[in-house]
Amino acid sequence: MKAPFPHRKRSFPSYLFTISFVIFVIFLYGEDFTCILSSPFLGSQHAEVHPRPRQQQLRQKQGLLREKDEAVAFAVGKTAEGCDVFEGEWVYDEVSRPQYAEEECPYIQPQLTCQAHGRPDAGYQHWRWQPHGCILPSFNATLTLEMLRGKRMLFVGDSLNRGQFVSMVCLLHRVIPENAKSMETFDSLTVFTAKDYNATIEFYWAPFLVESNSDNAVVHRITERIVRAGSIMKHARYWKGADIVVFNTYLWWMTGQKMKILRGSFDADPKNITEMVTEDAYRLALGRMMKWVEKHMDPHTARVFFATMSPSHESSKEWGGDPDGNCYNETTPIKDPTYWGSTSKSMMQVIGDVFGATKVPITLLNITQLSEYRKDAHTQIYKKQWSPLTPEQLANPRSYADCNHWCLPGLQDTWNELLYAKLFFP
Ligand SMILES: *[C@@H]1O[C@H](CO)[C@@H](O)[C@H](O)[C@H]1NC(C)=O
Ligand SMILES: *[C@@H]1O[C@H](CO)[C@@H](O)[C@H](O)[C@H]1NC(C)=O
Ligand SMILES: *[C@@H]1O[C@H](CO)[C@@H](O)[C@H](O)[C@H]1NC(C)=O
Ligand SMILES: *[C@@H]1O[C@H](CO)[C@@H](O)[C@H](O)[C@H]1NC(C)=O
Ligand SMILES: *[C@@H]1O[C@H](CO)[C@@H](O)[C@H](O)[C@H]1NC(C)=O
Repeated sequence: MKAPFPHRKRSFPSYLFTISFVIFVIFLYGEDFTCILSSPFLGSQHAEVHPRPRQQQLRQKQGLLREKDEAVAFAVGKTAEGCDVFEGEWVYDEVSRPQYAEEECPYIQPQLTCQAHGRPDAGYQHWRWQPHGCILPSFNATLTLEMLRGKRMLFVGDSLNRGQFVSMVCLLHRVIPENAKSMETFDSLTVFTAKDYNATIEFYWAPFLVESNSDNAVVHRITERIVRAGSIMKHARYWKGADIVVFNTYLWWMTGQKMKILRGSFDADPKNITEMVTEDAYRLALGRMMKWVEKHMDPHTARVFFATMSPSHESSKEWGGDPDGNCYNETTPIKDPTYWGSTSKSMMQVIGDVFGATKVPITLLNITQLSEYRKDAHTQIYKKQWSPLTPEQLANPRSYADCNHWCLPGLQDTWNELLYAKLFFP
């Protein structure tokens, strides 16, 4: 009788033995293996078996999801291979920008409604971001709400992040009937609800992410800022259960001095306060945030983003303008593609270090460079003022121009287009 495997030697080769053993083990522990292989948290407590989320099943049925995209929650498609959506140029587009009118969105706080406060030009609303390597998917509000059904999208950070939150609400609210939406504020948390979708889009005020003496959402104009760099739970307990989180923190760290770090309690008397180089304190805070994400966000069902620093345009010298000027009166973007103003490169380095050295899937929204070009997009003097202006200020408008915040509609809608691209087309 002929042997079924003519080349097979009599003794069972050891490599075959090893292979069958491995196959046997994979068979036995198959579920754990697939989970470990797909888990970015190698060896952490997240190596549990997760049922495939309902939405992903749905999308697979609709043929929207390819096999290899399965690991990324919320993905419905893919950005062109090798395209960095953050590298590109601003294109003036009267037809498709802005995506909504200022007066159409009742949620914009009066600090950002520039037209209502007399801004004479509107060109800043008409710039569209064009990446060099691909076309951005166009923002689809209905699709976004469908994907957020039964979910919670949360922005956490400072007033710049609040601007992005409001922009997101403005981009979405038009497709929701009047009686099916609400906006409510509970201390540090502001919640926009799309009732028919059982979805919320929220903003949580935490300008340093970690605990600080500037945590009051309304009264936080504090000259001597103090942080508890390792302490996040005071805020983070409100973030639990969020499905998409977008963090930011930067401007509040830039006091020009060392950071004051509190050990122990704010109630202690005397307080134990030491000073720390800003970059080191920032690193501690980002590291603490990352630890929280690792522990509380499930990478199979949730997504986490970090928006890099929002640039300021306080000195027109930086772009070759008037030596005494700032963003006031600026109406066009900077054309020089290499332009980088005063935004701290060392803080950017910290972001790169912290998020680069981990397997935790935190997606960077690297909006710094593209926003650097937009010296025209700040609110300038066209916003509600906190306190009455003095005659001296009125005589010299640039003295009170706000060159940190951005008019809406405007630049921050682009940040959300990029968030949209990274969320649904990773
Ligand atoms: C937006 O998404 C919805 C839901 O997926 C879809 O029905 C609609 O055709 C999309 N709109 C555009 C303009 O692509
Ligand atoms: C609404 O969504 C929340 C999660 O955000 C969920 O706990 C709740 O069961 C949902 N309610 C309905 C009626 O679907
Ligand atoms: C303050 O905190 C530092 C760092 O934890 C500690 O080394 C120091 O002993 C503390 N000082 C006081 C007075 O408690
Ligand atoms: C701002 O622009 C207006 C109109 O072009 C001009 O009259 C004014 O002098 C400018 N102000 C400054 C401070 O550049
Ligand atoms: C963000 O992009 C800028 C240039 O566009 C780059 O210099 C920087 O390293 C990037 N930041 C990170 C953390 O990757």
